[in-house]
Amino acid sequence: MIFDPQAQALNEAIRSVNPHVFNLLSDRGKAIYFPKHGILSQTADAKGKKFNATIGTALEDNGSPMVLGSLGSLLNLKDRESFSYAPSFGRPEIRKIWKDLLYKKNPSLKSISFSSPVVTCALTHGLSMAGYLFVNEGDVVISPDLFWENYNLIFNHAYSGILQKFPTFVDNSRFNTAGLREKIRESGIGKKIVILNFPNNPTGYTITVEEAREIKEILVEAANDGNEIVVFIDDAYFGLVFENGILQESIFSLLADAHERILAVKFDGPTKEDYVWGFRVGFVTFGTKLNSAALYSAIESKMAGAIRGNISNASNLAQTLLLEAYASPSYDEEKAQRYSILKRRYQKIRQLLESRTEYSRYFSPLPFNSGYFMCVRVKSGDAEKVRKVLLEKYDTGIIALGDVIRIAFSATPYDAIEQMFDNIFKACRECAC
Ligand SMILES: Cc1ncc(COP(=O)(O)O)c(C=O)c1O
Repeated sequence: MIFDPQAQALNEAIRSVNPHVFNLLSDRGKAIYFPKHGILSQTADAKGKKFNATIGTALEDNGSPMVLGSLGSLLNLKDRESFSYAPSFGRPEIRKIWKDLLYKKNPSLKSISFSSPVVTCALTHGLSMAGYLFVNEGDVVISPDLFWENYNLIFNHAYSGILQKFPTFVDNSRFNTAGLREKIRESGIGKKIVILNFPNNPTGYTITVEEAREIKEILVEAANDGNEIVVFIDDAYFGLVFENGILQESIFSLLADAHERILAVKFDGPTKEDYVWGFRVGFVTFGTKLNSAALYSAIESKMAGAIRGNISNASNLAQTLLLEAYASPSYDEEKAQRYSILKRRYQKIRQLLESRTEYSRYFSPLPFNSGYFMCVRVKSGDAEKVRKVLLEKYDTGIIALGDVIRIAFSATPYDAIEQMFDNIFKACRECAC
């Protein structure tokens, strides 16, 4: 394959520092680059000039951005620039703030070198761009069997990877670290793509500190055996952990400098953390043990190149609003309030499951301790049937996944939880007959 010289330069910057990271790139990932010449660089050259006819946006005769009054009046923003394009990498201020927040939320990252976060159109898009950079046709993507179903569309349908799953839990109580080891070993030594998501969708499970250590050991052992591993870490629900002894930091903290043959790729963002689902802003951050500023810059450029070729850039307006929020003195407190609302619902469900022993005749909970969701396994085995009964007779909507029901307590008022579980109980009982 013949690469553009700009892609070759990025490839060399990566390969000369850590050839394993280069080997992990897909064919598309090797070919992509963020264009330094052409329109972007000529526009940059013209910045500040008296007559600047380079930019593909519209300006008023006084040089300010053209903004329709009906839109401008809706927004109480000093910065009208937010109507214009953001850089494909994301706005530098929000990239910096998010990196600072990563250190704050994950204190053990303190001594670890990792990339600057690149802004995506939320996590889905970040995952998709990681598919672009790392997943070749036929590549296996290893995942626990309880996973966010959109991984199918992203890794399987869009990039022709093959999702290979291992049972998520052992004894319905622990994360199946042995299953992960087995799956990694199954296909011999080579390139491995692993996806981890805690707090998990659909189960609401976050690994314990001990399980996190085991996962690290397994991946390091696999890397020592000669595998080259890219680990996708989907932290969509980061921070919503409701029990002690559970991993409070992202597993990125453990994996970002675990081994030179391991590349950790973290996906996170304000979607769920800051309750802005429709803003469509997320971040992708890279970490590997054998690194340099040049390697990280090259991989960020590849990510930004993929973004430019797909969506050009993420919403500037949403980035601007978030910057305002992160600068607000009440931000932490506002977040803490929302967290306690969710935690109170979580505790209510725990208490219900303990006190209502009759539930266990018809369904049993899967391990959960965090996030937006919890799941129950339906003993009759037909969650879809239960779902239909719940809709038709009990005015209740849940998600059915095989023999499992997913309940979004994130969206269920505290006072409705008991009635909702009673409805599920009754529907399960009817379906069991
Ligand atoms: C595990 C997981 N990852 C990613 C996403 C997507 O997040 P976003 O809305 O930021 O694209 C979701 C959304 O439901 C999710 O559950």
